[in-house]
Amino acid sequence: MPDEKSFHMTPDEFRRHGHAVVDWIADYYARIESFPVLSRVEPGQIRASLPPAPPRQGENFNAILLDVENLILPGITHWQSPKFHGYFPANASGPAILGDLLSSGLGVQGMLWSTSPACTELETHVLDWLVPVLGLPSTFLSGAAGGGVIQDTASSSSLCALLAARERATNFRSNQSGCDGHLVAYTSSQAHSSIEKAIKIAGIGLGNLRLIPVDESFAMRPDALSQRIEDDKRAGLTPFFVCATIGTTSSNAIDPVTQIGRICRHHNLWLHVDAAMSGTAAICPEFRYIHDGVELADSYCFNPHKWMFTNFDCDCFWVADRKTLIDTLSILPEYLRNKATESGAVIDYRDWHVQLGRRFRSLKLWFVIRHYGIEGIQHHIRQHVALAQEFRRWVEGDARFEMAAPSPLNLVCFRHQGGEAASQTVMDRLNRSGDLFLTHTRLNDKFTLRFCVGQTHTQARHVAHAWQRIREESERLD
Ligand SMILES: Cc1ncc(COP(=O)(O)O)c(C=O)c1O
Repeated sequence: MPDEKSFHMTPDEFRRHGHAVVDWIADYYARIESFPVLSRVEPGQIRASLPPAPPRQGENFNAILLDVENLILPGITHWQSPKFHGYFPANASGPAILGDLLSSGLGVQGMLWSTSPACTELETHVLDWLVPVLGLPSTFLSGAAGGGVIQDTASSSSLCALLAARERATNFRSNQSGCDGHLVAYTSSQAHSSIEKAIKIAGIGLGNLRLIPVDESFAMRPDALSQRIEDDKRAGLTPFFVCATIGTTSSNAIDPVTQIGRICRHHNLWLHVDAAMSGTAAICPEFRYIHDGVELADSYCFNPHKWMFTNFDCDCFWVADRKTLIDTLSILPEYLRNKATESGAVIDYRDWHVQLGRRFRSLKLWFVIRHYGIEGIQHHIRQHVALAQEFRRWVEGDARFEMAAPSPLNLVCFRHQGGEAASQTVMDRLNRSGDLFLTHTRLNDKFTLRFCVGQTHTQARHVAHAWQRIREESERLD
């Protein structure tokens, strides 16, 4: 047989180029503070710099890497910069990047246990590890009736929770004949927009989502929830689902999960808890109180891809009763049948989420947990919270600013006393300067600045510099 023509990268080429890519990433982190945090490109600028058609002949790898440097990097907003204080973090770390690389290298597709047993079993194991570490209820363990699965995002987890709740409430009739418009769901007015999206996707209808009012700390009011459920029942509707939030996106408010959970138990409603960013804090015993009441939840999720040093995407989702989730989502076409599935002795994660195929995401989470150890993660989470609390004290001590919400963990919400335009101008100037990046929200209908400390490498000097820059920009307004 003559040699077959091949365009593939040889193992030796892969090794050489792979080293170059790892070097590039290491150098990127070494110089990341020199970049303006927010990309400065204009809309369309990146596309205009790219050729209109793909190359007919393959190109030299070095040329491709050079284009990453010259064409792509200017269009990057540097989420991994320690000066990134916007939104909630989407942080990365060395062990997570390497775990992700290995996952790509292995290239397994773990839809069934049999398509790569390690992909399933490592995931189950790591999620079991996290249950006691985060103070979650033992019902979430795979050895009990529950279990955990890694989803792409909190949005997907909330959708799956909602679908399982819908089926439980209708005795699996909605899967057969659709919704009849009687199911009603509840969350607070501060809940993440993904809940609204899930309501739309699940066919519940936005008109059947009740946004429960919040108290002065922006946490859901259980009395208002209770009242609304009673009203809906009297109107002949079927309350079925409540989503409580631990760490709302706007202000990091923590809903009173215990009280909400009791109401859910009383009315037999599914309680889902969305702890997307703040759940990570529970790894520290002193912050574990945020999980009070989660033992009353039917499902719970948090994102290691936000604050637990694990590259996007990685959301951990647990249910107390896996059977309901699986019965909701399971479909077994002939081409997926196999002996292991039929034995009933294995988990097939394809039944635990929307998509069929799945990446080996637990590898990067496993790497993170093993590299840092629980103590290492605790150290950095504590550090972030301490830095945010110091920032809060600086804000409180400066008469030009006012606090806009309580600050239980690593997010500080504040305003310039000069009003909306002043806060907006300070934020815009800071973000344009590239020196740091922060974002805003509206609380009580007032423009509010949000300063989050959660990027993997943020240290005291970054927070001190940010505060100095905020003060400078405020002085320019005077
Ligand atoms: C409380 C909360 N829930 C859900 C989400 C959505 O996260 P994801 O991008 O993982 O869907 C966010 C994102 O910031 C969030 O803060």
